[in-house]
Amino acid sequence: MPTSFITVQQHILEEQRRFPGSSGEFSSLLSGITMATKMIQDKVRRAGLSDILGEYGETNVQGERQQKLDVFANHALIHFLGLRERVGVLASEENEQPVIVHQGSEDANYAIVFDPLDGSSNIDVNVSVGTTFSILRRPDGVTLHEPDQWVLQPGSKQIAAGYVVYGSSTILVYSVGNGVHGFTLDPSLGAYMLSHPSMKMPKQGPYYSVNEAYRESFPEPYRDYLDRLRSGALGQPYASRYIGSMVADFHRTLLKGGVFLYPPTHENPDGKLRLLYEANPIAFLAEQAGGIAIDGKRRVLDIEPESIHQRTPIIVGSQVELTDFGRLIG
Ligand code: AHG
Ligand code: MN
Ligand code: MN
Repeated sequence: MPTSFITVQQHILEEQRRFPGSSGEFSSLLSGITMATKMIQDKVRRAGLSDILGEYGETNVQGERQQKLDVFANHALIHFLGLRERVGVLASEENEQPVIVHQGSEDANYAIVFDPLDGSSNIDVNVSVGTTFSILRRPDGVTLHEPDQWVLQPGSKQIAAGYVVYGSSTILVYSVGNGVHGFTLDPSLGAYMLSHPSMKMPKQGPYYSVNEAYRESFPEPYRDYLDRLRSGALGQPYASRYIGSMVADFHRTLLKGGVFLYPPTHENPDGKLRLLYEANPIAFLAEQAGGIAIDGKRRVLDIEPESIHQRTPIIVGSQVELTDFGRLIG
C-alpha cells in the first residue's frame, strides 16, 4: 500500500504485530493523543476567528502566565487520555500534581506525561506551536497512591514518545522504540496519514538553533561552541534558525540535521526546558533517529528525575555537532 494510505492507527497495529513483545495497548493510548491533538489543531487553525487568543488570567506552576490555548489543550488531553482504561496517571506542565484516573483499576498500568501546548509565546503571532508526550509503564510495586513514582523515571524507561507540530501542516511524530515515524494530518479526511516513514536525522546539518540573545550568560564551553560553529571549525558554514517553540525547532533539526540547544543561563541555571515532558520525549526521538541528546555532560535519557517539573539544559541534534560539543567539554 502506498505510504500515503497508511493511518497512524494502522501503523501502530502493524508495529504491534511485528513485535509481539510490544504491548497491544498502544493503539488505544495513541488514539487518545490523536483525538485530543485534532481538537487542539482545530482551535489553533481558527485562532483568530474564535475567542481563544490571549491570556487565560492565571499563572501555572512554573510561574508562567497561562494562555487560553494552554488551558484548552490541557483539558483536551486530560479528557481523551482519561477515557483510556489503561491509563492510571497523567502529568502535565499545566498541573502542579499528577492527575490520577481509573482509581482502583488493576488494568491501569500507564502514565502519560505531556506539555499540552509548547511555544505559548508564539500562539498569538501565528507561529508554529506543538504538543509533546511521553508514555511510561507503572513501575513494579508502585500503587495509585504514589502517582509521582509512576512518572519519576529516567527517560530511558519511556516506552513511547512523540509530538505534534501545529505548523504549516499538522504533523504527528512518534516512536515506540523502533524508529521514528511522521504522519501528516489530512484535513479532508481528518486522519493522520504516514508521510515520513523511518525518519533519520542527517549526520550533520546546516543550522544551529539557540536563543543567542542570552549568549553572554551561557557558561564558557557553550560560548566557545557557538564560536566554533560560526568559524567553520566543523568543516562548513552554519546558518541560524530559532523559532522559540522547542517542538518546532526540534522538528526542523530532525529533518535537516544540525543542533538545537537551550543552555544554562544566569536566570535559569538548569536551563529552561522541563525534563519529563519536553527534554525526554525529544531525546528519545533524537536517539531513535540516529541523533544524540545530552544535558551538557550526560545523556538526557539517563537523568534520574527528582521532581515532576524539574528543568534541564539540553543539546540535541546530529552526530557531528554533538560529538564536537562532547570534545569541547572533555
Ligand atoms: P512553553 O510554551 O511550553 O512554556 O515552552 C516554551 C519553551 C520552549 O518551547 C522554547 O524552546 C523556549 O520556551 C523558548 O524560550 P526563550 O524565549 O527563553 O528562548
Ligand atoms: Mn513547552
Ligand atoms: Mn507548554
